[in-house]
Amino acid sequence: MAPDEAEVTFAKGLEDVIVAKSRITYIDGEIGKLVYLGIPIEEMAKHSTFEETAYLLGHGALPTRQQLDEYSRTLVANRALPDTLLNMMKLFPPTALPMDVLRTAVSALGMLDPNPKDSSKEQNQLRSARLIAQFPTIVAAFARMRQGLEPVAPRADLGHAANFLYMLFGQAPDEFTARVMDVALVLHADHEMNASTFASLVTGSTLSDMYSAITTGVGTLKGPLHGGANEAVVAMLQEIGTVENAEPYVLNALKTKKKIMGFGHRVYHAYDPRARIFKEYARELSQRKNDMTWFQIGEKIEEVMIREVGRKGIFPNVDFYSGIVYHHLGIPTDLYTPIFAIARVAGWIAHVMEYWEDNRIFRPASIYTGPKEAPYVPIEKR
Ligand code: ACO
Repeated sequence: MAPDEAEVTFAKGLEDVIVAKSRITYIDGEIGKLVYLGIPIEEMAKHSTFEETAYLLGHGALPTRQQLDEYSRTLVANRALPDTLLNMMKLFPPTALPMDVLRTAVSALGMLDPNPKDSSKEQNQLRSARLIAQFPTIVAAFARMRQGLEPVAPRADLGHAANFLYMLFGQAPDEFTARVMDVALVLHADHEMNASTFASLVTGSTLSDMYSAITTGVGTLKGPLHGGANEAVVAMLQEIGTVENAEPYVLNALKTKKKIMGFGHRVYHAYDPRARIFKEYARELSQRKNDMTWFQIGEKIEEVMIREVGRKGIFPNVDFYSGIVYHHLGIPTDLYTPIFAIARVAGWIAHVMEYWEDNRIFRPASIYTGPKEAPYVPIEKR
């Protein structure tokens, strides 16, 4: 029998509810620590690449040189989109939101899978490589199509991050720009049991299929309380406009219970370690571009927020400084969340594959608050 409201307490938003065991990512939110398979995110950001990170998350160990080369070659070989998808995308309205395009394109890839009924581990590994390889191509292709430009074909001699920027701008990035993009992808690749990962697991747990699980993840990431926050941060910086306006804006927002985007986290009650890394890249890029305004506004917002609500454990999260970084890379604002997805697809896939090793369908319960008994009233008598 369903529990009665008076009899139970429940964890709204599943706060602190453990839904799975996982060996992939660990967070200590009290001290702001994040590790992938035990390796601190700071080390990953310093030394790793997105390809290596995706391998680590998916295989549970850092690759040897040979394994990494082979994995990178597989990704490169799968970058191009099927013609059917490209033709479909040409019919999409140029005004479509890039996250909606990505969600629809991933769903379409499922329809185009040559062996849709084969759910073997080998097929799913193939699908994983295809999805990870094709996310950047989808995002870059639509970004060009909506401007009336032809998509730029992927270049096999460029790494995952550099190739994405090449397909987006039609020009290969310099080394520093490519590295910033690569680090951004490493930082976003996984984050334990967040909303979109859980949503992917729920879909995967019905033994649906990989594409459905990842489509669910994209749809869930889109929301401004999750991946969509990076775009909302930029809208806020634009609205604030000057450093002088930052403090009154924040104080007014807090007074009126309006949230400051890019702050707060369900798990971190300390500074998000990814935000620290993004902040330094945001500073360096702003200096290189000789345009410090947004960075200075950001720092002011951070100062006021920590002073006012830091004791409640509210600090910058990954989305706060990433927007400033992407802005200085010349990336259109509505591609920030799709870029998050380009990275996070590696984490979603790793978690879904891991969950399938010991699958059980998710079927939670709810507290029924409707009437226990009601008569069926014929329509003419209502
Ligand atoms: N600005 C101001 N106050 C905040 C903020 C914020 N950004 N975040 C939390 N708070 C306050 C709430 O008002 C609440 O205060 P109260 O107890 O006085 O009512 C308290 O902190 C707890 O906040 P909740 O929203 O209940 O925390 P929850 O764990 O449910 O939500 C979330 C976490 C969604 C990240 C929230 O902090 C938020 O909305 N932040 C802004 C959006 C954002 O940046 N999202 C990206 C998260 S990271 C990611 O997904 C990549």
